[in-house]
Amino acid sequence: MEPAKILVIGNSDGIGLATTRLLLDEGWQVIGVSRSDSPIANPRYRHTTLDVLAPEYVDTLKKLIDGEDGLDTCLFCVGVGNQIEEEFWRGESKTIATNFLSAVQTLECLLPAWLAQKRGHFIGLSSLADTLRVPDAASYCSSKAGLSNFLESTGLRVRQRGVSISNIRFGFVDTKMAHSPVKPAMMTPEAAAQIILKVIDKKPLRLSRPRCILPVIAILSAIGWVQTTWQLNR
Ligand SMILES: NC(=O)c1ccc[n+]([C@@H]2O[C@H](COP(=O)([O-])OP(=O)(O)OC[C@H]3O[C@@H](n4cnc5c(N)ncnc54)[C@H](OP(=O)(O)O)[C@@H]3O)[C@@H](O)[C@H]2O)c1
Repeated sequence: MEPAKILVIGNSDGIGLATTRLLLDEGWQVIGVSRSDSPIANPRYRHTTLDVLAPEYVDTLKKLIDGEDGLDTCLFCVGVGNQIEEEFWRGESKTIATNFLSAVQTLECLLPAWLAQKRGHFIGLSSLADTLRVPDAASYCSSKAGLSNFLESTGLRVRQRGVSISNIRFGFVDTKMAHSPVKPAMMTPEAAAQIILKVIDKKPLRLSRPRCILPVIAILSAIGWVQTTWQLNR
């Protein structure tokens, strides 16, 4: 795909920041939105500081994209983990609002224009944890389950109308979010950014990486299913 204009939301750090840097290196024009300032200074980069949980998020985003010619691609990287031990039952709805609802709101802002012009591509970052039952990360896993289902279902709905949606399911990526004691097959944010660029080019509905831990995820997911089914049937 020829470099064009892209909106990257959640790019002051981590995967979003690494991908923004790579996109700029490849000649893209990037509009960034994040809760924090950006460390990037580049004539092809514009940054807006905005919290996706702020009441004015949708209106501000609409104003930002209104009249923005050629804005056909959006990468949504916003995400938070949950600190369940410290904040048990206090941050759960916030995690779901940040990881899931704000992605839905963002797509709602972009879709009408994209459907009218029969062109557009939304890429969301979900997780391989979207099929798991993890008692200590209930809001994170369920936000990703909701996000994956929503992106893929909506993707199936809109692809006949010229709009693509891609759901990227990563395993561990070495950012401040990855704080599990065990991090098998962890990739660098730069490696994740390379994968995202391929997704921008090929527009798959779903991409899960790294492949080597997919069998482990399938086993963990099956264990979760057996556990919950067994509990239900007692
Ligand atoms: N790292 C992993 O192991 C991993 C694995 C699978 C999927 N993912 C997903 O990949 C995405 C990116 O994660 P990451 O590892 O790059 O995390 P990260 O390093 O913490 O970056 C997250 C980005 O989102 C921004 N953000 C968070 N809350 C926000 C809010 N309310 N409003 C606006 N911006 C906000 C952050 O800004 P601040 O710097 O201000 O917080 C930061 O720029 C997430 O959806 C995550 O779930 C990550």
